[in-house]
Amino acid sequence: MNKKMAMMCCCMVFAVACRTMSHLFSPPSYFPPPHYDFKQNPLDKDKVLLGRILFYDPILSQDNTISCASCHSPYNSFAHTDHALSHGIGDKIGTRNAPALLNLAWHERFMWDGAIHHLDMQALAPITHPLEMAESMPNVVKKLEKEALYPPLFKKAFGDSTVTGENLLKALAQFQLTLVSNQAKFDSVMRKQSHFTEQEQHGYVLFDQHCSTCHPPPLFSTYQFANNGLPLDTVLKDYGKMKITQNHADSLLFKIPTLRNWEYTAPYMHDGRFQKIQQVLQHYTKNIQKSATLSKELQNGVVLSANEKIDLIAFLLTLNDRHFVFNPAVAFPKTYLLDKKNSSSSNGEVQ
Ligand code: HEC
Ligand code: HEC
Repeated sequence: MNKKMAMMCCCMVFAVACRTMSHLFSPPSYFPPPHYDFKQNPLDKDKVLLGRILFYDPILSQDNTISCASCHSPYNSFAHTDHALSHGIGDKIGTRNAPALLNLAWHERFMWDGAIHHLDMQALAPITHPLEMAESMPNVVKKLEKEALYPPLFKKAFGDSTVTGENLLKALAQFQLTLVSNQAKFDSVMRKQSHFTEQEQHGYVLFDQHCSTCHPPPLFSTYQFANNGLPLDTVLKDYGKMKITQNHADSLLFKIPTLRNWEYTAPYMHDGRFQKIQQVLQHYTKNIQKSATLSKELQNGVVLSANEKIDLIAFLLTLNDRHFVFNPAVAFPKTYLLDKKNSSSSNGEVQ
């Protein structure tokens, strides 16, 4: 092959790869560049599909009862509603609230305390956690190899029907990377397809004044860590990032959560202590606990009148993305999981 042809081939392969990738991951132009290095794990539709099936399959847990989706339900923007603290295997109660999973390509660290640096490694934590899925990777691999469903799906995705932990983790990461929320009213205003009402616009001004240093648009989080003045829960004694770094300057610092889809993800905060957004605002206006590590933005508390709170909430409501929550492309893959035994030969569309 001469040089020119090789170049052309290269370009074509690249163009196809980009097209596939853009179909699976196409954030709007007003989003910043993602943090995730897609070159290390380029998105591919068969890998995403495998990841999606694994995400919803309780086979990843020791007694085959708990899936990732048990704690990260699509209808709650992939958080765990009603549960302040997550419930895992044997209904064991964890120590933290399950966060919403969205726009993960922009996160630099994972977990409330930043314990995990890479999305590709994250799933190992819940799979092996004694209070969550209580499984081991070698055993998961063994179980998947015995299921008629999986070897062909691994073959299609990775060109090899041998199930490996590495490929399993890559596939799970791929599916989660496709969970991009960008269809809220806020986004349609950014795209100039609609307008804020006067009340929402006023709420946006208040938001900008009081909230946006930590929860800036368009992602509504810096994904850094901060102490927002929550009093320590004396039972859980969770000091956040300090647990990982052992540095006192990190005491009570938690990863700043996004505010996108907050209406679907109650309860709030790392331990799910608040059920309602009004309680969150009550915290910021009345109950901020001073301490050595309290963020400087909150040193003087937040002053909001009752009417201003209402306007702020009106703005916050524009961050809810129904399209994301009810997106059939990321929902439970019925065709594959409802009847696993028969489905291994199915090539049908995922529903
Ligand atoms: C028993 C409930 C439970 C199960 C099952 C579970 N998770 Fe989680 N997940 C949590 C909790 C709680 C956290 C926060 C943990 C922490 O901060 O220490 C979390 C955190 C995460 C995060 C980090 C999000 C962020 O913003 O930092 C990701 C990603 C995630 N889970 C994906 C998964 C995947 C993939 C699976 C399945 C392999 C899974 N989870 C299974 C409860 C669960
Ligand atoms: C100094 C940074 C900072 C500022 C300013 C700030 N927040 Fe937060 N916010 C955080 C952190 C950190 C958390 C998580 C704390 C935790 O769970 O321990 C959080 C959590 C939240 C949550 C819970 C989200 C969830 O999914 O659990 C909401 C809602 C929220 N903030 C709204 C606001 C609003 C509204 C404002 C402005 C009035 C604001 N925040 C100002 C840092 C900040």
